Amino acid sequence: MDNIVICGFMGCGKSTVGKCLAKKTGRKFVDMDAYIEKKAGMTVAMIFEKYGEQGFRDLEHEACVELAAENGLIIASGGGALTFERNVQAFRGKDTVILLDVPLEVIRVRLKNDTKRPLLQRPDKDRAMEELYNKRLPYYRKAADITIHGKDSPLKTACEIMNAVK
Ligand code: S3P
Repeated sequence: MDNIVICGFMGCGKSTVGKCLAKKTGRKFVDMDAYIEKKAGMTVAMIFEKYGEQGFRDLEHEACVELAAENGLIIASGGGALTFERNVQAFRGKDTVILLDVPLEVIRVRLKNDTKRPLLQRPDKDRAMEELYNKRLPYYRKAADITIHGKDSPLKTACEIMNAVK
C-alpha cells in the first residue's frame, strides 16, 4: 500500500486532516516536522536558528527520502517540502500527493497568533505570507496528483480524500 502525502501552505490543515484520515483508514500517521524534530533532537525553530533554513531543508529532504521508502503511511508534509523538486521526486511514481488548497484569507486567520513557524516571525508577516503563498501555489499544484479544497471540517476533508484516492 503506497503512502498518501498531504501538502499545502502552513496552516492549511495537513496534520489535522492527516490524523483524521489515518483514523478513518487505520493507516499510520506521520507528521514530517515531528519526524525531523525527533531525529534532530530539537524543534524546527531551533534547527532554523542553529543551521539556517538550508540546514532545515537538507534534514527535510532526508526525511522525504526515508518516508518515501515506507508504505501505507499518511504523511503530513512540511509546508515547504513539496515546493522542492528533489522532494517531489522522492515520492513521485509511487505515492499519492494530495494538495489541501485553502484560500489565503483562511490561512491568515489561522496563523494570526502563530509563534512557532520561523518563516512567519517577522514584522511584515502579512506581506511575506502573501508573497510566499503566491510563489508556492504553482509548485504545490505541480507536485499534487489530487487537489482537495480544504475549507471544510477536517472530517469532511478526510472523507473527500478517501473518495478521491479510491
Ligand atoms: C515551513 C512549514 C512548516 C515547517 C517549517 C517550514 C515552510 O511546516 O516545516 O517551519 O517552509 O512552509 P507546517 O506547514 O506544518 O507549518
